[in-house]
Amino acid sequence: MTVAGRKTQGRRVLVVGATGRLGTAIAEALTERGDEVVLTARDTEKLEKQAASLARGGRKAASFVSADLGHRDAVETIVHGLRAALPPKDGRGSIDDVILASGPFPRTPLAELRREDLERTITVHAVAPLLLVHALSSDLAKARGGVVALGDAGTTRPYEQHVAYLTAKGALKTGLQALAVELAPDVRVNVVELGVVADPEADADPLRRHRLATRSQLGRFGTPHDVVHAVLSLLDATWATGEVWGVGR
Ligand SMILES: NC(=O)c1ccc[n+]([C@@H]2O[C@H](COP(=O)([O-])OP(=O)(O)OC[C@H]3O[C@@H](n4cnc5c(N)ncnc54)[C@H](OP(=O)(O)O)[C@@H]3O)[C@@H](O)[C@H]2O)c1
Repeated sequence: MTVAGRKTQGRRVLVVGATGRLGTAIAEALTERGDEVVLTARDTEKLEKQAASLARGGRKAASFVSADLGHRDAVETIVHGLRAALPPKDGRGSIDDVILASGPFPRTPLAELRREDLERTITVHAVAPLLLVHALSSDLAKARGGVVALGDAGTTRPYEQHVAYLTAKGALKTGLQALAVELAPDVRVNVVELGVVADPEADADPLRRHRLATRSQLGRFGTPHDVVHAVLSLLDATWATGEVWGVGR
């Protein structure tokens, strides 16, 4: 089936940060609904395991490309890997959609903040992802594709000890909104901004749980399931671009 020129099934989706807590949940949900995922992160062993675990139901293992977004050649490496795994043919590019779900989440106490912290974090969270979307934009356009990035609610309501990370996530959000304008209407670019997403560590500590939950408008954490649902919904929402939706904020 096709909606607004976009094929709704069997899409090829690049998941960046695919071995992380949320990246894993997103890659699984995409596979479950019949999309073909390509995974990327740094750790080759984890990627290999993750790729094999997605080989259910008679499907072959997912493709993956290992790359460190902090390295200058990361975008080239990922695009090269994609072209090798899924060569463009019959008017279709190598990839139809992109999910940006990579870390890290560095703590940078103000007293120790260094130029390198800012440079590295902005490179990993903003420069490389924005250049990757730029490099893949003609593939995405051919498929009326979408980009969905995981942002952080701290970019509008900052918290302490994370100046480098929050600055980088702010740059990513603004950069993606600018790309949404540049790439419309063929490619849609949206953000799911996260507050706190429940994790086992938080669940095990009632005080921490209470303190964090009070930061959210609904008085509760988001869950990985909420995040997956928001990401897939925005990916499919052919009417939406430049949107920032919230989960657990
Ligand atoms: N979980 C939350 O509560 C929360 C809240 C707000 C925002 N977010 C955002 O949501 C996204 C996912 O969060 P998460 O909790 O799933 O993170 P996570 O579990 O720490 O996973 C991070 C992923 O990014 C990859 N990664 C880290 N550094 C990288 C680098 N230099 N180059 C390439 N890949 C790299 C990791 O794999 P490798 O280490 O192998 O590279 C992993 O696949 C992040 O953008 C985070 O900022 C999360």
